[in-house]
Amino acid sequence: MNITIIGAGNMGRGLAKQLSKAGHQISVTARDLDKAKLLAEEFPNVTAAAAASALGASSVVILATGYADAVPALRSLGDLTGKVVLDITNPLSADYMSLTIGHSTSAAEEIAAAIPGALLVKAFNTVFAQVLADGPALDGKQVPVYYASDSEQAGQTARALIESIGFAPVNAGPLKNARYLEPLGGLNIYFGYGAQHGTGIAPAWIGIN
Ligand SMILES: NC(=O)c1ccc[n+]([C@@H]2O[C@H](COP(=O)([O-])OP(=O)(O)OC[C@H]3O[C@@H](n4cnc5c(N)ncnc54)[C@H](OP(=O)(O)O)[C@@H]3O)[C@@H](O)[C@H]2O)c1
Repeated sequence: MNITIIGAGNMGRGLAKQLSKAGHQISVTARDLDKAKLLAEEFPNVTAAAAASALGASSVVILATGYADAVPALRSLGDLTGKVVLDITNPLSADYMSLTIGHSTSAAEEIAAAIPGALLVKAFNTVFAQVLADGPALDGKQVPVYYASDSEQAGQTARALIESIGFAPVNAGPLKNARYLEPLGGLNIYFGYGAQHGTGIAPAWIGIN
């Protein structure tokens, strides 16, 4: 697949590493283009581009910025009509210990409403960057990646992408189930940082997979 990653931070790097290894063609962009260039130098099949030219031939966009930057970052790419957009964000408070929205909406739904032509998928928000970069297995078990979307086609694309990098895709239903996935991401952060289990952990469901 041709995939554009917005964000050259911890998650952008992990995604670029795994997707590159799986043979995908990656375009990466960041506010600071030098950061994107440094990342691109690390892995084959990865090129850096300014936002306006980062979409290229990509059918899939992965949003790897903080939630507060999500909508302007997506808009900076241009027209995303018909593009599959994977939203990996957790809408976190400044101390990372709570969510800023939830219950009656989610980051994914807010982004979908702001970018109406895009085919939104919530995915990867429960996978720590360390697990993403070191994966796809943890304690000998494939790490689950939960995904949720209102688009059958976008869900299938996300599933194929997750499978291609060796992680275990788990269909978590419609996009509004991001209201569950984002708190799950928050609990993962609590276990990792609050309860000090570290970031080499991941949530998994007994009886699924
Ligand atoms: N870290 C984890 O373990 C983890 C796990 C699951 C989900 N997540 C979620 O994944 C997202 C990224 O996390 P992270 O840890 O990778 O954050 P990060 O290291 O801070 O990286 C964020 C990246 O987004 C870029 N960015 C911000 N605004 C942008 C814009 N308008 N256009 C292009 N690029 C822009 C930043 O570029 P500049 O540096 O140039 O500003 C930076 O490269 C967050 O929403 C987080 O909640 C993180």
